[in-house]
Amino acid sequence: MASPKIVRWGILATGGIAQTFTVDLLADPTTRGVTHIKHTVVAAASSSSQHRAQAFLKDVGAPGDAKAYGSYEEFVGDANIDIVYIATPHSHHYQNAMLCLEAGKHVLCEKAFTVNAAQARALADKAKAKKLFLMEAVWTRYFPLSIYVREQITSGRIGPVARVFADNSMALDPEVSFGDGKHRMVNPELAGGALLDLGIYSLTWVFQTLYHTQPESSRQPPRVVAALKSYGATGAADETTTIVLAFPRPDEAGGEAHAIATTSLRIATTPGGNADTAGIRIQGPGGEIQVFPPAFRPTRTRLLLKDGSVEEKDWPQPGPGAGSGWYNGFGGSRNAEGEGHGMFWEADEAATAVVEGRKEGRYEGLAESILIMEVMDEVRKQGNLTYPEKIETTQYPTQL
Ligand SMILES: NC(=O)c1ccc[n+]([C@@H]2O[C@H](COP(=O)([O-])OP(=O)(O)OC[C@H]3O[C@@H](n4cnc5c(N)ncnc54)[C@H](OP(=O)(O)O)[C@@H]3O)[C@@H](O)[C@H]2O)c1
Repeated sequence: MASPKIVRWGILATGGIAQTFTVDLLADPTTRGVTHIKHTVVAAASSSSQHRAQAFLKDVGAPGDAKAYGSYEEFVGDANIDIVYIATPHSHHYQNAMLCLEAGKHVLCEKAFTVNAAQARALADKAKAKKLFLMEAVWTRYFPLSIYVREQITSGRIGPVARVFADNSMALDPEVSFGDGKHRMVNPELAGGALLDLGIYSLTWVFQTLYHTQPESSRQPPRVVAALKSYGATGAADETTTIVLAFPRPDEAGGEAHAIATTSLRIATTPGGNADTAGIRIQGPGGEIQVFPPAFRPTRTRLLLKDGSVEEKDWPQPGPGAGSGWYNGFGGSRNAEGEGHGMFWEADEAATAVVEGRKEGRYEGLAESILIMEVMDEVRKQGNLTYPEKIETTQYPTQL
């Protein structure tokens, strides 16, 4: 058997998700059956100090010779980095991704990809011109669970999808958790609000089931009607947003299909952390596929067929396993011992693409990321939500 290709990652930013992603990245890929590639971390950068980057590398268990940088500009000059994972707030993705692409680095950039579609288009153009890989880090698309759901649809088990309900709502108490209004979840300067942070997952489920499952030649953008409730305390970030989408489709493929995508900072998909109500329901004439919360990291599906039969499946996250002393999770929530968070699958896809010379992700290419940004632009337009010009601009470089 050929030895695995080593892909060398640089981590740009050292916050919550950078930590979770990098711990997953460094888990042995054979624990999830991956033998053709291996990930290593060669550098990390913090915008605040080199010391912070050094502490991050130690916390995530990076190799001892990984380099710590105290500025993103210095970091992108490191010739050892093959691909950069960007984990800054969405307000900064455009400037940071442009910096990396200009420096000739492949890029995996956290969701939401950018603040608006114009920025996403500019990044896609730059990546194309420079012949570099670029992918939005919508990790959920790369879960085996998501692949299974899409296969149930394309193999016709529920017939042509006619309607999708998709919610991702978080039951936060924003005035308490983010009282000073500075946190990225509610701060307009950091493109705060439910839509870009959480609603992206509701739209992910709508698009990966209703749009991505169609042959590329028949995919068409949806019509969009939206209602957006502003978060009172900061005035310019959405607290709750509801989107109705109508997807044109050829009659022979089932005709027009509908979706409702919802998101909220304040209310829950299911209260009290219960996961017994499906947050995602994908319906066709032959049945329904249910996906249980959370929408971004689901581990359970149920298929209900017209004949009354039910197929339930659990999708536990692989990892080094119980007894390994290995832990990961996001923020304050830890997964069970040895259980991965699920971010390694998108990393495997990005690394495989780099090794193979592909320039886009398999399960969400740049055109689809741009289209979803266009939908979010339209939702914000209908809901009168704009962000400060310096984070909406495509002007590069812009000092943030
Ligand atoms: N895939 C997922 O499940 C998931 C989960 C959470 C978040 N995310 C996404 O990941 C991104 C980061 O979220 P996070 O929760 O990791 O945020 P976070 O904990 O606040 O970390 C963001 C990091 O960005 C850097 N940064 C640079 N300029 C900044 C500025 N002006 N204000 C704040 N931070 C700045 C900082 O690192 P340095 O000081 O080191 O530069 C900071 O630690 C967001 O786009 C979010 O949507 C994804």
